[in-house]
Amino acid sequence: MALEIRNLHVKVDNEMILKGVDLTIQPGETHALMGPNGSGKSTLSYTLMGHPKYEVVEGDVLLDGESLLPLTTDARARQGLFLAMQYPVAVSGVSLYSFLHAATSAMRGYTEKARESGRGGRFNAHLMPAREFRKEVNEKLELLKMDPAFLRRYLNEGFSGGEKKRAEILQMALLQPQFAILDETDSGLDIDALRIVAEGINTVQKELDVGLLIITHYQRILNYIHPDVVHIFYEGRIFQTGGPQLVETLEAKGYDWVRAEVAAKG
Ligand SMILES: Nc1ncnc2c1ncn2[C@@H]1O[C@H](COP(=O)(O)OP(=O)(O)OP(=O)(O)O)[C@@H](O)[C@H]1O
Ligand SMILES: [Mg+2]
Repeated sequence: MALEIRNLHVKVDNEMILKGVDLTIQPGETHALMGPNGSGKSTLSYTLMGHPKYEVVEGDVLLDGESLLPLTTDARARQGLFLAMQYPVAVSGVSLYSFLHAATSAMRGYTEKARESGRGGRFNAHLMPAREFRKEVNEKLELLKMDPAFLRRYLNEGFSGGEKKRAEILQMALLQPQFAILDETDSGLDIDALRIVAEGINTVQKELDVGLLIITHYQRILNYIHPDVVHIFYEGRIFQTGGPQLVETLEAKGYDWVRAEVAAKG
């Protein structure tokens, strides 16, 4: 029952970006991943979700002991993996409501059941009952202090930076993953929103014993979501792993000492 990343090497457009990442997350654990711009943090998160642009050339990713690598992104999601993207994409013509309804239904097996029974073509047969979904989505909106009017808007279109981040966590709350990767979910959130979103994440984590990988540049979100483990990521690898005090070291010293140590080792 763990998410295990083993010796992961990943190429993007023929460039080696991840150079041997080892990381294991147990249910309920919170891991923080910090590292300079361009060190490969988002590459790691996209690779875990199975983005086709990222080519795994060595190593493996296991969920409950089974490799995720042969699986498509939606199959990985159904296995319990979730990614809140650093730059969520806008989809014109699809409302946040229909997107969440479809995604939640797929996660809960409605879509597959409808397909198997041959009723997939029938109106809404592949969706979880609207009333049930509406009730749940309202609870989650409340949790994240989001205006229900958002549901009618096209997915992320014209959403402010912070609104996009909240919409990502709303999605996480509905999809109920086992493991969630949050790629700079704190960036762009105002001071109140940061607290509300962090509390929302904590609630979801506690309810479902979610394992979290929080990618961030700053300590502030970690004041609300306390990491058990902190990793420093540098040039496509984990340079050092430690406890929460490592965040303070980074805030105080930046990454120069990491650069110096890596250079000294050759
Ligand atoms: N198509 C590509 N060709 C070459 N290099 C690429 C390509 N796509 C990404 N990279 C490089 O991969 C490296 C890692 O990028 P990534 O987005 O994973 O960094 P990051 O750690 O998430 O940075 P940030 O903190 O700024 O979000 C960067 O140097 C980036 O320029
Ligand atoms: Mg990034």
